[in-house]
Order: sequence, then structure tokens, then C-alpha cells
Amino acid sequence: MAKKDKAPQVADTGHEWDGIRELTNPPPRWWMISLHASWIFCLVYLVLYPSIPLLHGSTKGLLGWTQIKEFKEAVAENDAIKAPYLKKVADMDGQALMADPAMRNFAESSAKALFGDNCAACHGAGGQGAAGLFPNLADDDWLFGGDFDTIVESITDGREGSMPAHEGMIEDAQINQMADFVLAAAQGKASKQGFIRFDENGCSGCHGEDAKGGVINDLGSGAANLTDGIWRFGGSREDILRTIRYGVNEDPADVPKTRIAIMPAFGEKLSPEAIKMLAVKVHQFGGGK
Ligand code: HEC
Ligand code: HEC
Repeated sequence: MAKKDKAPQVADTGHEWDGIRELTNPPPRWWMISLHASWIFCLVYLVLYPSIPLLHGSTKGLLGWTQIKEFKEAVAENDAIKAPYLKKVADMDGQALMADPAMRNFAESSAKALFGDNCAACHGAGGQGAAGLFPNLADDDWLFGGDFDTIVESITDGREGSMPAHEGMIEDAQINQMADFVLAAAQGKASKQGFIRFDENGCSGCHGEDAKGGVINDLGSGAANLTDGIWRFGGSREDILRTIRYGVNEDPADVPKTRIAIMPAFGEKLSPEAIKMLAVKVHQFGGGK
């Protein structure tokens, strides 16, 4: 009873449940302030920002804010931060770039996105390639060369290693002999006689007398090292026979089973700075040198 009498002077709404009356006390002050603050905020927001949906688009708001504008400002801000670094990349040679920890770090992190956008579709996210199709960039085994300048050249100009189809060029028996030779060479078991035949069949002209590849110039020729057990197109006897018979990058209209190995040129698509940064990353993939 005492409890019930505590606020007798406050008017009630006339509702009562088991002796509990509903009073007409005003809501607390903090609650009223929040209520008014929130509708004032809504009104101000409505006036300043795009808000009310119309048939085509929405009201623009006094501030002229748009998501696109905010995005562009963020990009411009980012570009401004990167500009001095990019200038440095342009001025530095490969050696200097890789020796400077801050610049190397910058190059590698920028190249991450570049590689994902331009290269990963073929070479894989980690540069691991795809067996028989796209070379592994992460094994430090190079067709054209793994030094910085050669990598830059591979990316800028593209690559298209070529090997003639030997079917019809040499006897089928010789083709089979050469496949056996390649299998043996990959295990370091090739005979002297084998190396002589390799030379007689004209293979050494590209793959080198020791079959270790890359002899046309110092930068490599794309001719694979046949002695390291690392296969570009596959190491089964069948795979090897196919490569010897039908060659690499012959015109597929003439030789449908030829191996296709075309690295597109990026010189027109990417800036020289972007290519340099990618080269740092690819060099890093390969374990560096
Ligand atoms: C359409 C597929 C494709 C794309 C995209 C591609 N590559 Fe290649 N890349 C290849 C092929 C195929 C080869 C091998 C060419 C050959 O054997 O003659 C190659 C070769 C290379 C080589 C030479 C490897 C060596 O052993 O000497 C480098 C370096 C390279 N690519 C880097 C890149 C980088 C960096 C990018 C992205 C900017 C890229 N590639 C994008 C297919 C591609
Ligand atoms: C005109 C140069 C040229 C001649 C001649 C040549 N090759 Fe090649 N060969 C290449 C190139 C270039 C490649 C690598 C293709 C690529 O990845 O772009 C290759 C790749 C190969 C491969 C694949 C290696 C792998 O890792 O999968 C084999 C096997 C091979 N050659 C064997 C031979 C044999 C055997 C002969 C002689 C009958 C021969 N080649 C003659 C240029 C040549």
C-alpha cells in the first residue's frame, strides 16, 4: 500500500492493472534530447547529402558528395603518395632497386596487384604456372633467363620460343632414339653416342651440345634445359615424343599437335615502372640470383 501511495499527485492515464497505475510522467530529459537531436540530424543529412530517391537518381544534397567523387579523391591521394616512389623506380636500375629495402618492398607490394591482374591467369597466383601450358616462374629454371633485365625483356616484348616439328624432317626411328636420349639425359644417364646423335639431328643447335639449353645468345633462346628433370611440356615418353614430332609454336593450321607457348607482350599495356616492379617480383619468385 505504501508503494502505491508514493506518487499520488501525478496524474494517471486511467489505466490500472492489479493496482499498478500508468502515470503521465514526462520522459526523462536525456531521452527527449536524443529524440530531437536525431530528427535534426536527419533533416541536416537530408539537405546536405544525396538522400531522397527520385525517378531518375536522387536529390543531390548541398555538399555535392558522391561515392564516385570520394573514390576518385581516395585514388588521387593514393597516387600522390605513390608518385615519388614511382619516380624513383623509373630512375633506378634493377640492381639498385632490389638492393634498396624500402624500394624493393614498395615494388613487391605494388606488383602483387599487377601480377594478379595481368599474369596470374596464366602463371598462377604464386607464379607456379600450369603443367604443359604456362611455365613455372618460381623454380629458378629459366627458358630465356632469370636475371632482372631478361625478365623485363620477357614481359615487355613477350616470348615465343620455337622448335621445328621433326616429323618428316628426321626418320621416326631417330625421333624415338631422341626421346630415349632426352629421358636418359634428364636422369644424367645419357650416353656419349646419344650426345653425338643429338648433335647430328640438329638438336644441339638450340639446346646446346650439353643439352642444357639456351645457346642462341647470352640471354637464352627459350630452348629448354633437357638435363634438369624440370619439364615444360611434360616428361613422359609420350609427351617428349609429341614435342619432338610436332615442335613448339609451329603454325597450328599446318601442325595441329604443335605445342603452343606464347607469352604476350606487355610493353604497350603496362608502364615501364610497372614492368620493373613486376620483374622484381618475378625475380623474387625465382629465388633471386
Ligand atoms: C596468356 C598467358 C600468359 C600471360 C597472361 C602471361 N604470360 Fe608469361 N609466359 C607465358 C608463356 C606461354 C610463356 C613461355 C613462352 C615460351 O615458352 O616461349 C611465358 C613466359 C614468361 C617468362 C619467361 C620465363 C622464362 O623461363 O624465361 C616470364 C618472365 C613471364 N612469362 C612473366 C610474365 C609476367 C610478369 C606476366 C604478367 C605481366 C605474364 N608473364 C603474363 C604465358 C603468359
Ligand atoms: C630451333 C631451335 C630448336 C631445335 C632445333 C630443337 N629444339 Fe627442342 N625446344 C626448343 C625450344 C625453344 C623449346 C622450349 C619451348 C618453349 O618453352 O618455348 C624446346 C623444347 C623441347 C623439349 C621440351 C622440354 C620440356 O621441358 O618439356 C624437348 C623434349 C625438346 N625440345 C627436344 C628436342 C630435340 C630432341 C631436338 C632435336 C631433334 C630439338 N628439341 C630441337 C628449340 C629447339
